[in-house]
Amino acid sequence: KPMPTINWVLKETNYTRLCSSKKILTVNGLFPGPTLYVHKGDRLIVNVKNQGKYNVTIHWHGVKQPRNPWSDGPAYVTQCPIKPGANFSYEIILSSEEGTLWWHAHSDWSRATVYGPIIVYPKLGTTYPFPKPQAEFPIILGSWFKGDVMELIETALEQGGETNKSDALTINGQPGDKYNCSKQGTYKLTVDYGKTYLLRVINAIMNEEVFFGLAKHNLTVVGMDGAYIKPLKTDYIIITPGQTMDILFTANRSPSHYYMAARASAAVTYDNTTTTAIVKYSGNYTAPSTPTFPSLPDYEDIDAVTNFTRQIKALVDKDHPIDVPQEVETKLYITISVGTYPCPNDSCKGPDGSRLAASLNNVSFEEPDIDLLQAYYRGIGGVFETDFPSVPPRFFNFTADEMPDNVLIPLKGTKVKVLKFNSTVEIVFQGTNVQKAAENHPMHLHGYSFYVVGSGFGNFNNVTDPKSYNLVDPPEVNTVGVPKNGWAAIRFRADNPGVWFMHCHLERHSSWGMDTAIIVKNGTTRLTSMRRAPHHLNPC
Ligand code: C2O
Ligand code: CU
Repeated sequence: KPMPTINWVLKETNYTRLCSSKKILTVNGLFPGPTLYVHKGDRLIVNVKNQGKYNVTIHWHGVKQPRNPWSDGPAYVTQCPIKPGANFSYEIILSSEEGTLWWHAHSDWSRATVYGPIIVYPKLGTTYPFPKPQAEFPIILGSWFKGDVMELIETALEQGGETNKSDALTINGQPGDKYNCSKQGTYKLTVDYGKTYLLRVINAIMNEEVFFGLAKHNLTVVGMDGAYIKPLKTDYIIITPGQTMDILFTANRSPSHYYMAARASAAVTYDNTTTTAIVKYSGNYTAPSTPTFPSLPDYEDIDAVTNFTRQIKALVDKDHPIDVPQEVETKLYITISVGTYPCPNDSCKGPDGSRLAASLNNVSFEEPDIDLLQAYYRGIGGVFETDFPSVPPRFFNFTADEMPDNVLIPLKGTKVKVLKFNSTVEIVFQGTNVQKAAENHPMHLHGYSFYVVGSGFGNFNNVTDPKSYNLVDPPEVNTVGVPKNGWAAIRFRADNPGVWFMHCHLERHSSWGMDTAIIVKNGTTRLTSMRRAPHHLNPC
């Protein structure tokens, strides 16, 4: 039977937020974009026609796309962008994912307005591992910029300085009533007393991780990144860009209005960091003029972050088996830093007149002119190098307050790591204090989900730290928040051949070069090898 097909048109559409109107890039005129509803294991085609004015691509965040990197989407990694006037047909292949994922544009900063939920229901005839909720609501957290985002990032990269992180955070496209001119549009969700609801929370914010909560109500987190977790009761969550969480709550408080809110967790000199929506009980009562606000941890409350994340465990049972590699063949130890380059011309706006750069193992990723996948598939030389370092170029005290002088300047290059098909892999991401970047880094891998087997503060110790790994029920995710002055260890089996991007999901960091890719080689049979290239590839 033919695969379900959906048609999307990318176009500039007028939207008004924060008291002013501007044209933004949308899918079919919608902001946030349309929700894709699928079942576990489904396939579908999304035909994208670009009627906007920029080059764009679309990525299906958290969809593993077995053997099919051709439809993964990151610009210059798996495809050349869809030019204005051109089309591209994506085949989306779901496998083991179940829960909430999302899609977003994956070229320059176009994802600021081009994003939406992917809701993956259990296979027909099966059900959630928790009682069926009365209703489900996608809660997609985003960023709003007053100016044109593509111009913003272009200028920022030219000048080499910090970028504006955003002018507002949003819930389902709305800043909420703490912002000017935003009361009317505030997202509202109506509930009936005594019933239980499922919130599918997605962090599509460009540059900030946030605390999120609902005033007076307990939350039970039951899923993350398209996999179930052991039910976790909490007053708040911390959610970093790229992540999704499925959360149950019961409407069991006195009927009224309650704020749901997300607030940036990093200490930044910035005040537009709280977005609100309202949970509204049905029935007759006098609503307060200002609903109660959830109590969220303070800015930079590191303990609040770790207390929450350390409790997350995979749900493991006969319907939800997991397969954590107990031994690993390939180990990578990757430092994550924000550094600087000297200014070529005297007019840079980075620290002390430098240009900002970011790196993984001291390599700052340079976008190639043709996509890595095509270069790899066709054996085109000179596009990338396969010598991405497996360990940092040299060891120093990565998390010390004072850094050695010469660690700040990264190497530029398009370096990737090649992995044998089906090999078991461990990556330890090491946060550093280079340039005192006051942020955790959400590291995201395409084509895979992976197990977060451990994390901690300070420098990773390869003798003692592995002893504390959880190899029994670690959460299976596609994005891990690496503590800014600590480390996180992940494991996976390299069973999906292809070219897969790996990067920080803070958009500034990714733009500054905090990226690399893995190439997973083909196995020995057709079914363990990449699919052949589709007939129509975009020219670069
Ligand atoms: Cu959500 Cu490389 O992306
Ligand atoms: Cu980062």
